[in-house]
Amino acid sequence: MKQVHLCIVGCGKIARLHSRVARTLRPRVQLSYASRSLQKAEQYRRRFGGVAAFGSYEEACSDPRTDAVLITTPHALHAEHARLAARHGKPLLIEKPVARNLAELKEIENAVAEAGVIAMVAENYFFKPLVRVLREHLDRGDIGAPLFIELNRTGRSKIGGWRADPVMMGGGALLEGGVHWINLLLQLGGDARQVLAVRPEQRYTLLAPFEDSLQVLVKFTDGAVGKLLHSWNLANRIGGLSISKIYGTEGNIHFETNGLFVLVLGHRRRLRLRGLPDIMGYRGMLKHFVACVRDGRPPAMSLAVARRDLALVAAAYRSLETGRFEPFTEDSPRA
Ligand SMILES: NC(=O)c1ccc[n+]([C@@H]2O[C@H](COP(=O)([O-])OP(=O)(O)OC[C@H]3O[C@@H](n4cnc5c(N)ncnc54)[C@H](OP(=O)(O)O)[C@@H]3O)[C@@H](O)[C@H]2O)c1
Repeated sequence: MKQVHLCIVGCGKIARLHSRVARTLRPRVQLSYASRSLQKAEQYRRRFGGVAAFGSYEEACSDPRTDAVLITTPHALHAEHARLAARHGKPLLIEKPVARNLAELKEIENAVAEAGVIAMVAENYFFKPLVRVLREHLDRGDIGAPLFIELNRTGRSKIGGWRADPVMMGGGALLEGGVHWINLLLQLGGDARQVLAVRPEQRYTLLAPFEDSLQVLVKFTDGAVGKLLHSWNLANRIGGLSISKIYGTEGNIHFETNGLFVLVLGHRRRLRLRGLPDIMGYRGMLKHFVACVRDGRPPAMSLAVARRDLALVAAAYRSLETGRFEPFTEDSPRA
């Protein structure tokens, strides 16, 4: 299979972004669109130059022209739509968060295993160029042993539609948006063993169901400490930029949280300006998925990696209830 015919299931906001990215991968990728409304699917097809439009998700998944499916529906529906695609033997790229909880993820894992199809989670942070740059400096020992990894992601978001619905969300900002940053934190810190989450105790109007701002502390197995400040409701950025840091025994790395620059002050002193190409990792992610489908190989951003990330969010939420560090186990039954 030279060209991969990818059907985007759910014509919403992120579907538009993936469509623009996929255009840069032509002719390796051809897109089609599935919506609950044929008219909407047709609008997307025309706007982004797709090859087919489907008026139902079932029709799209059962169509022999569809080589793989990109699920861009709200995460409360990912299990249902992943089961549908797997039943028709289609490789799957599922938007993050992979599901509301670990039980739903288990349903996806079972369906994928039974069908024997490739499944990947569309966690673009896994593919951010920033991760490669930071790992390069850490692995080379440029700042000695990392002791503290501090990620700051704050901003004021506009929340509406299904994101304002507690049932559809199944959690708060950390689950829906913060899971990106959990993925980044774990890519930098490695295996986690304990998690603590705290939130402000003052009364204020929440922007999202359950929580809109959390501070999460992670103890890694090598002894380092990770900290993530994640908020949809804090204006704490300078010109839209947030700064994060890694403190080591022999120096520090300061970086713009999304990777616009990286300043290494350790054995080696270096300012790296990444520029903007694929800064968010979407293109690298889609390219990887398409290559995996074409070559029939397992994707790096697997369901197992997504399980780890989701389990960490679950442990953070448990810690909000207990007020203590919670042990981190990837098989925790509650999310
Ligand atoms: N990777 C990232 O950076 C990123 C960024 C944003 C969002 N996301 C993730 O992508 C997924 C979709 O987010 P989005 O912002 O694109 O959402 P959205 O704009 O609301 O689009 C979701 C689409 O899902 C379909 N859908 C099916 N059943 C639905 C229901 N009961 N309620 C609402 N929509 C329903 C609709 O498409 P039809 O009407 O065509 O059927 C809708 O347009 C979520 O998992 C989200 O977390 C990822």
